[in-house]
Amino acid sequence: MQRANIRPMEQSDVAACAALMADTPLWQRYGVTFASATERLSAGLRSGAVILVAEGPRGEVQGFVWLVVRGAFDRSGYIPLIGVDEASRGQKIGQQLLRAAEDHLRSLVADVFLLCSDFNLDAQRFYERHGYVKVGAIPDYVLPGVAELIYRKRLSPMH
Ligand SMILES: CC(C)(COP(=O)(O)OP(=O)(O)OC[C@H]1O[C@@H](n2cnc3c(N)ncnc32)[C@H](O)[C@@H]1OP(=O)(O)O)[C@@H](O)C(=O)NCCC(=O)NCCS
Repeated sequence: MQRANIRPMEQSDVAACAALMADTPLWQRYGVTFASATERLSAGLRSGAVILVAEGPRGEVQGFVWLVVRGAFDRSGYIPLIGVDEASRGQKIGQQLLRAAEDHLRSLVADVFLLCSDFNLDAQRFYERHGYVKVGAIPDYVLPGVAELIYRKRLSPMH
């Protein structure tokens, strides 16, 4: 497994992450373009969002994860976006990004939520392998005819 260097996103990383999103069929289906992804990521950075990037051996950005500490129900962590560059998928970079996000959240919140498209079977398998449990579905939430599956992972036992 290649060990990625995971660090906070900087403005200079935005173009690589926006290109990654614009090139991914999943996000194309949601209407994401290079321009809209650039705008969203830049706005996130300006507002102090926690976005981590995975850097490869030559300093290239291979993926990113965006997390919001109390982004679910003003109580739990929420991961709105995670993505790995197509050429780098299947090398556990996503796993390292997800773990880094969970490590960031663990001392702050008891659990983490995320949404996954019902048709995105690869990502569902990825999340389930990492302990996420499907707890519901929101039909027609973002795209007509597509349900957003709600996934939850406990980070600490109930107290
Ligand atoms: C989902 C994603 C972040 C996982 O990152 P990754 O670095 O490929 O993941 P890992 O190497 O740690 O784990 C591999 C697992 O990811 C999943 N996966 C999803 N898409 C994949 C792809 N194109 N290639 C390889 N694995 C993929 C599979 O479950 C795979 O496990 P498998 O060996 O059983 O097929 C990444 O594939 C990706 O960016 N996909 C497109 C965007 C996306 O779906 N984001 C999630 C939105 S809810």
